[in-house]
Amino acid sequence: MAVSIWPHYRGYYKRLDYALRPETGWIKTYCENSKCKKYGGYVEDKLIGFTLLVFQNPKPNSRRRMAEFFVAVHPKMLGRGFGWQLGVQTLRKAFNVLHLDEVFLRVRNDHDWGIENYPKLGFKETSPGRLVEEVVNGKRVSFRIMTLTKERYQKHPSSGKTDVT
Ligand SMILES: CC(C)(COP(=O)(O)OP(=O)(O)OC[C@H]1O[C@@H](n2cnc3c(N)ncnc32)[C@H](O)[C@@H]1OP(=O)(O)O)[C@@H](O)C(=O)NCCC(=O)NCCS
Repeated sequence: MAVSIWPHYRGYYKRLDYALRPETGWIKTYCENSKCKKYGGYVEDKLIGFTLLVFQNPKPNSRRRMAEFFVAVHPKMLGRGFGWQLGVQTLRKAFNVLHLDEVFLRVRNDHDWGIENYPKLGFKETSPGRLVEEVVNGKRVSFRIMTLTKERYQKHPSSGKTDVT
């Protein structure tokens, strides 16, 4: 995936530009040493966004099949519905193809798009009002944790009726 040569995010998402870059980027950080599925969204053969499902189980001794979700849209393609579509398609893969029990994510407490749209995709905060602090790219960041279980996904309108292969 040629994500590292995408132009830089400016304005609101400038602080997230590190997520695309070779040394600090999500693909390197989360996919090199962990089990990870990468998905690309294409329009006329051009990569317009990507998602990751990084397999891990934050609950010790649990046999649930869980993955963390990440999404990024090409800086010149924002606001056209691609982020939403990538979310819908990746969740279909996660539950209908990979048969995961749960998908979770960490969203910055000041990430307006995520706070508004992840719940619309079916995600729910694990502990509403509770923030998790982490150092990311040298800065302290507060995250909300959201999760979507297979059971809740199957009742969600975006789950669709057919498998995506
Ligand atoms: C966050 C990000 C992935 C969003 O992608 P995007 O393509 O810019 O966003 P979209 O155009 O898909 O936004 C979806 C909009 O369509 C709406 N929408 C589209 N189809 C919809 C549907 N079928 N049902 C409900 N809402 C829908 C959403 O509610 C939203 O509207 P709003 O912004 O007015 O609330 C993108 O901005 C990005 O890559 N940012 C930098 C990296 C990043 O922040 N990643 C996420 C970290 S948590």
